[in-house]
Amino acid sequence: MSHDLNPKIWSKTSRRNNGVLTIGGCSTKDLAEKFETPAFILDESDFKDRAIQWRESLERHFGDHAGTVYYAAKAFISKEVTRWVEAAGLGLDVCTGGELAVAIATDFPPSRIEVHGNNKSEKEITEAIDYRVGTIVLDSLQEIDRVARIAHAKGVVQKVLLRLTPGVEAHTHEAISTAHEDVKFGFSIASGAAWDAVLATTRHESLLLKGFHAHIGSQIFSSEGFSKATHRLVEMLARFKSEFGTELPELDLGGGYGIAYVDGDDPISPDLAMQNLSKYVRQACAEMNLEIPKTSIEPGRAIVGPSMTTLYEVGTTKEVRLEDGTSRWYISVDGGMSDNIRPGLYDAEYSIALANRESRAEPRRSRIVGKHCETGDIVIKDVELPSDIVPGDLLAVPSTGAYGRSMASNYNHMVRPPVISVHNKEARIMVRRETYADLLALEIDDE
Ligand code: LLP
Repeated sequence: MSHDLNPKIWSKTSRRNNGVLTIGGCSTKDLAEKFETPAFILDESDFKDRAIQWRESLERHFGDHAGTVYYAAKAFISKEVTRWVEAAGLGLDVCTGGELAVAIATDFPPSRIEVHGNNKSEKEITEAIDYRVGTIVLDSLQEIDRVARIAHAKGVVQKVLLRLTPGVEAHTHEAISTAHEDVKFGFSIASGAAWDAVLATTRHESLLLKGFHAHIGSQIFSSEGFSKATHRLVEMLARFKSEFGTELPELDLGGGYGIAYVDGDDPISPDLAMQNLSKYVRQACAEMNLEIPKTSIEPGRAIVGPSMTTLYEVGTTKEVRLEDGTSRWYISVDGGMSDNIRPGLYDAEYSIALANRESRAEPRRSRIVGKHCETGDIVIKDVELPSDIVPGDLLAVPSTGAYGRSMASNYNHMVRPPVISVHNKEARIMVRRETYADLLALEIDDE
């Protein structure tokens, strides 16, 4: 348990006030009373500061060669968040028509939108081109033809990047590592598919190939993968120059920057990440005698991850005797795998703290579980928490902003929690809690 609210893990305005956890100046006790639990508490200034910090770091280290910081909407998106992203001067990476619809609903500047996805539908491509999005990142040969055809029919010359797989093993969970060879994303450089894609793209007058993209995985701490991926992409830029006699002006090196979930995690700062990335790009370009391309990145988790905290209420506690004679203390909260699937899906670890009060009680080894009908519905497998925790206490799990609400489900017909934005002692509902009526409204009755 993080008694000290480790600042690497907790959002920037998280504090203790007379023992009670406060975020954005709002007491979590008051928040729970007013908005009920479970709830995602979004620290507005934390989000905005991080967004600006990533953009400024890119600009500081790339100078005139800074491209765009595209916030990866998949980590968490809402209309208000796209407004914050816009105001902070970032772009938006969307990967479905649904994410694009949020951007369109807030008039997000189309030139700052980049469209991803390994299976964009005709409808999604059409909507993107109709909105005049800045960039579409192409992922398959069929898609090259599809985008070319739709753009041509509308008289548009669409700016595109090619998503390449540089064959890099990012040291992260297999399900979230994306750029080694045996994956569904992009065109493999090693197999020659990437070059075939270049030839296929340049044959279309309705496509304007600007450069290459790679995203090597998520929750990455080491910079080695970024260094290798950069080198391989720059090699492709060099090949393009030698075959076509002109240089491609852009690179997009994706997201994936890791954040701290537990005390041992030690992510690098945006400043250092961009210092490193700019070094890799500059070195590779110098080696291959190329102009430095405009370089973009797509962080999602590293912006929204630390800015949200999930607030739960304890419902039951139970001592379970284990075979080895010891026992384990189970604490059940009022959410679980429907608001945080990451422990179940990726063995993700989280921290936790008693929120409504401080306790000096002896710590006890505990397991925090949800309320779903599944043994694997675990929030935290093994953690020391005060032994006097009782039903009605509030528990706060920090750094749940990325892929928490965005991967939430209605499993067991649970309603998805709200997102409450807090700032300067004020709290407002950004996304409301679902209701049973919302769930039932999807059903079409015959009579
Ligand atoms: N760009 C592309 C093309 C991506 O596919 C992703 C994430 C990102 C950027 C943003 O990556 P980030 O900076 O957030 O790591 N659900 C998983 C993560 C899946 C990431 C998918 N792509 C999780 O909960 O860990």
